[in-house]
Amino acid sequence: MVDEFRFSGVPALHFGPGVFKNAVSVVMKYGRSLLLVAGSSSFTGSGRGRGFVKELKEKGLKIDIVNVEGEPHAGFIDGVISELRVSPPGMVLAVGGGSVLDAGKALAAMLTVEGRTWDYLEGNPEMKAHPGTRLPLIAVPTTAGTGSEATRNAVLTTPGEPRLKRSLRHDNFVPDLAIVDPLLTTGCPPHVTAASGLDAITQLLEALVSTGASPVTDALAKSGLQCGIENLERAVSEGNDINARTGMAYAAFLSGIVLSNAGLGAVHGFASVLGGYYDIPHGVVCGTLLGAVTRVNIGKLAASEEDTAYLDKYAAAGMIVCSEKGRDRDHYLARLADELDRMVEVLNIPRLGCYGVTAGDITSIAAETAIKNNPASLTTGDLEKILLSRL
Ligand SMILES: [Fe+2]
Repeated sequence: MVDEFRFSGVPALHFGPGVFKNAVSVVMKYGRSLLLVAGSSSFTGSGRGRGFVKELKEKGLKIDIVNVEGEPHAGFIDGVISELRVSPPGMVLAVGGGSVLDAGKALAAMLTVEGRTWDYLEGNPEMKAHPGTRLPLIAVPTTAGTGSEATRNAVLTTPGEPRLKRSLRHDNFVPDLAIVDPLLTTGCPPHVTAASGLDAITQLLEALVSTGASPVTDALAKSGLQCGIENLERAVSEGNDINARTGMAYAAFLSGIVLSNAGLGAVHGFASVLGGYYDIPHGVVCGTLLGAVTRVNIGKLAASEEDTAYLDKYAAAGMIVCSEKGRDRDHYLARLADELDRMVEVLNIPRLGCYGVTAGDITSIAAETAIKNNPASLTTGDLEKILLSRL
């Protein structure tokens, strides 16, 4: 039986090695003036980026460029908007990693409304509902990780202290088009490839076992997980292997779709809190905690004997992740977390202690962690135990 579910928000997609070469003609269908949002040094400083901008200008497009350094802050978005109010662009093209795509999404949304970004940001007790208006938006990822090119939210840092990461969210914020060209990710260094790839794999696994999952997200999550597991280690060790890069680009795109439609679990609950207090890459938090959260979730689900459907899904994930094939369900349930830990070890993902997290911080981090769509009910004590195991 298939229960009631909703599924929405998939961008049009141009996918494959080399598809970016068609970007100029594609962009021209969306408008005659463009805000190009890019990273601080990568795309606009590259030969490919300079050639792209030159070609657009030769075709008569008006181009403003904004470079995003690090993770976008709500105040940064407001600053750019105030400069563009007099002569706003007709569309936004974001080319970069997850932070750049999120900044582009936020700029496209905020250029159509009055007020500050904070007014519409989740976590503001006086938050106003955004009407969902935005400029046409094209997302071009240059890393394979967050899946922001397929999501309906932009993650921004809040004003004031502590710095928190909160979303500007609306169903309409899914980009009109994602141009996913794995050739653009070949320059991504190994440690970034590893962390962002583990973000995608975490999103796929957490969405698969999410309480908000549907048959559609299950199918996409399994497909993405298979591809991510098959290709991540090679994408890290052989950065120019275009097949591995293509597999990771596919996994990341699907991870964005499933996270938007199914929700995520305790790993991302931790990541939201840890990312606000420590200077720690999101993908590192995901990777370092994924095995520990999986182990505790499977243990709690097995002990509760309430709903075996989540255990069936973990076993299916184990079949994808573990190298031994043809074993029984219990084998995969027993091996999955260890195999995830092995992968994280091979990829040299640091533990939380490397970023200044101490045993004294654990209680407050666990107390703030939300686990809305996690398949198992975890106590604060469970959350503390998970964090302690990865210090
Ligand atoms: Fe994530």
